[in-house]
Amino acid sequence: MTEHMSRRQLPKWSGIKPLLRARPVEFNATNRRLARALTIADLRTAARRRVPRAVFDYTDGAAEGEISLRRARRMFQTLEFSPSVLHDVSGVDTTCTVLGRASTAPFAFAPTGFTRLMHHEGERAVVHVAERHGIPYALSTMGTTSIEDVAAAAPSARKWFQLYVWKDRAAGEELMMRARAAGFEALMLTVDVPVAGNRLRDVRNGFSIPPTLSARTLADIATHPAWWANLITTEPLTFASLSGWDRTIAELIDALFDPTMTMADLEWVRSCWPGPLIVKGIQSLDDARRMAEAGVEAIVLSNHGGRQLDRAPVPLSLVPEVVDAVGDRTEVWVDTGVMSGADIVAAVALGARTVLVGRAYLYGLMAGGERGVERATGILEREMRRTMQLLGVRSVGELDRRHVAIPAH
Ligand SMILES: Cc1cc2nc3c(=O)[nH]c(=O)nc-3n(C[C@H](O)[C@H](O)[C@H](O)COP(=O)(O)O)c2cc1C
Repeated sequence: MTEHMSRRQLPKWSGIKPLLRARPVEFNATNRRLARALTIADLRTAARRRVPRAVFDYTDGAAEGEISLRRARRMFQTLEFSPSVLHDVSGVDTTCTVLGRASTAPFAFAPTGFTRLMHHEGERAVVHVAERHGIPYALSTMGTTSIEDVAAAAPSARKWFQLYVWKDRAAGEELMMRARAAGFEALMLTVDVPVAGNRLRDVRNGFSIPPTLSARTLADIATHPAWWANLITTEPLTFASLSGWDRTIAELIDALFDPTMTMADLEWVRSCWPGPLIVKGIQSLDDARRMAEAGVEAIVLSNHGGRQLDRAPVPLSLVPEVVDAVGDRTEVWVDTGVMSGADIVAAVALGARTVLVGRAYLYGLMAGGERGVERATGILEREMRRTMQLLGVRSVGELDRRHVAIPAH
């Protein structure tokens, strides 16, 4: 019995050394935190610790029972990939064409409001990463950095301006002129906010811009000192397009947004904006047809990340039929619920031209400013590339519906 056992000897340093490779020590806490995040979900966990609860909840939350968002994420989770093996996938090309121009990957940064609240580097951080990676960036009407400052921060990034049609039409027209003059390529008109969605977390947290000073706020300052120090020592928080607001977000939205908006306003926007027009927030085949008839260059199938109508259709589920009906006349994009590069691949395989990501990059921003957005983007890109390789696909153009099965409920 014993003769089968391996012989033992005293360990010698010369034998151990080749087995142990010293890991480089990372002294910077942010870099350490970000390096530990392997997924967007990890960045979300890191983000939660970094920012005040009301800020995290504003970003992470959705409307009412948050059913729209949960369903959208569930659809991404339950779909099934169908791979094909034995193809040379050593080189993978993720480039695609969006609005007639090349993009390095089929995703773009969605417009999000109040970005400087999530991290003081705000919109500039996001647009810098967009520029470095060749990914389009959409600035929100509710952005906290001006149109001109965003343009100056990243002159060669592809930039789109997201517009809400305001009650004050002249103000909206002026914004369009400023975006055009600053070199923004396309206008993204958001149409799913005739009134504010009921975001219960914000109501419960008493979320307001700028933050109000209460006993709770003081307690938060003690637990998130770095965030507060950054807020207080950088330029005061104002909007890209308006100033001086101290009530809740819902009150702001109701004051600004116009529930009387119709197709006639779309034509008015068209007459003010000479470049490509993207309509964001389409949630039915009929509306997709109306947009195609109106001649818009792209539509975004979206329920606003679940932040407006709860129990809305899952945007991803609309992609195949909408592409079949109008895909030859207008580009069909999708968003809501994207948390990984594999989600992006699935959406493109189902027919989406490109995908907008919102929270995925905001979790990175909250976790570590520009470096966090960089980390989020790297995660999405690597996941996308690997998923394509494992599917046996070498380019975005090769992805098609055969690669994704949607199990019946
Ligand atoms: C914090 C936050 C703020 C947003 N602000 C805007 C906005 O100002 N304008 C807009 O059109 N969409 C806005 N959206 C919606 C996004 O553009 C996008 O549709 C949504 O985030 C996609 O879902 P995802 O977060 O699951 O990727 C916002 C989303 C979040 C999470």
